Amino acid sequence: MNERRAPLLYAAETDSTNLALRRLAAEGAADGTVFWAARQSAGRGRLGRSFASPEGGLYYSMLLDASSEPERDLALTPAAGLAACRAVERVCGVRCGLKWPNDLLLDGKKLCGILTEGFAAGPRRCLALGIGVNVNTRAFPPELGDAAISLWQHTGRETELPLLAAALTEELDALLPAARARESALLEAYRARCLTVGREVLALRNGGSRAALALGVDADYALRVRWPDGAEEALRSGEVSIR
Ligand code: BTN
Repeated sequence: MNERRAPLLYAAETDSTNLALRRLAAEGAADGTVFWAARQSAGRGRLGRSFASPEGGLYYSMLLDASSEPERDLALTPAAGLAACRAVERVCGVRCGLKWPNDLLLDGKKLCGILTEGFAAGPRRCLALGIGVNVNTRAFPPELGDAAISLWQHTGRETELPLLAAALTEELDALLPAARARESALLEAYRARCLTVGREVLALRNGGSRAALALGVDADYALRVRWPDGAEEALRSGEVSIR
């Protein structure tokens, strides 16, 4: 594998690694720059939520130059999910699956969340690909209830965060070119990891939830579902829970 040119930066604590990359991009940081931290004071989650980021987790972001054709970026976040699965498997020997669109699940609970944020850095369009993994986390905030799990809770072993950050970088470096080229092999690998397909799901929308059957993941990584009235739809974003 080629030596990577962009740096891998670390801080014991930051507000959010996605925000840290935004600041670095404004100073000209290169495509592929990584920033990871052991704690976040203002971790950001999907759908405008916050992301609890206690000691023990890996909070990791990679800066990407966004394509001028947005459809070419559709596969980046799914590729990040797959890269996270592979890194966890390589370092910890634990196989996890993906809940569409990109949560990592272990024992039916959330092990990792991913948030991709787009922003401008001067004339440049960028993405911060943010990945939060519950690694050595001993306990979660009570509001998460029983929904989250850490690698430590599953294996009983500590994992070295720098090792996992390095593996994640290698897996992302290997998969992101395939995502940018929209390679079908990546789509097939994503489908093989996706635990949502074939399951009854609840799709959250407009403040309510609606039951559906998840039929498959289409070529744009949208989730094809069938509603109880027989109508089918491709969900492109949002929250879906497995029933
Ligand atoms: C979610 O499941 O809602 C997405 C969570 C994404 C969390 C990661 S941690 C690293 C990066 N920095 C952030 O502030 N958020 C992402």
